[in-house]
Amino acid sequence: MKQVAPGYTILKRYGPHKNACWVLEHNGEAAVVDMPPYSSGERPPYQRAESFTRKRKLRVKYGLLSHAHRDHAQTLPHFRSWFPSSHFVGHRSLMDDRGMAWMLSRTPGFPFEDWAAGRFSLFDQLFDGEIWSGDLGGEPLHILYAPKHSWSDNLIIFKGAMITGDWVVGDLRDCNALVPTETKLESIDRVQRLVRELDYHIHMLFSAHGDCLYYQVDFHKMMERSRFVHRN
Ligand SMILES: [Fe+2]
Ligand SMILES: [Fe+2]
Repeated sequence: MKQVAPGYTILKRYGPHKNACWVLEHNGEAAVVDMPPYSSGERPPYQRAESFTRKRKLRVKYGLLSHAHRDHAQTLPHFRSWFPSSHFVGHRSLMDDRGMAWMLSRTPGFPFEDWAAGRFSLFDQLFDGEIWSGDLGGEPLHILYAPKHSWSDNLIIFKGAMITGDWVVGDLRDCNALVPTETKLESIDRVQRLVRELDYHIHMLFSAHGDCLYYQVDFHKMMERSRFVHRN
């Protein structure tokens, strides 16, 4: 467990790909970000999230995912059961990802019958468009839809930081070509425009895995460097 910035705790980096499970918090309210698989011998992330938030008297208001890849999303059904009064919200692309529905429906513990009968859903709210906004204890929380690493990239903005999913930012090129270069460039433009429209100062960038934690960054400079790399 590691607090990496005010309001940002990484419970642990789980499973074979070392995926962070995040708790964001402000004024007694919290959001869980990413619901990774775990290895044998690890205490499941949903149990740790439940005891962490209970001990700190945090109300888990939201459940969020950075994108629909298995290493970030596999325990979503379990989090749904453990946090029945939380609001699970994300961009509609999370459910358009056929790979995710297939993967989740084959995860041990998935309530397949309830799902098939319409008694169980993975999200309370799927938004269309570019942005969703909410708050934790009065502190703004935004999700931007901007596909670059995957078609379901949800970038999360809170307390001066952005969780960038598996986006590669700065001078490096993305590790995959799931999304065409033109769309990656559009997403960089979109994110810069939305952050300007929100008049939001982002000075920290955190990869969803929790392995790249950039502090005191110039957000727009980082985005411009990313754009330059994709253009060349
Ligand atoms: Fe990914
Ligand atoms: Fe990943």
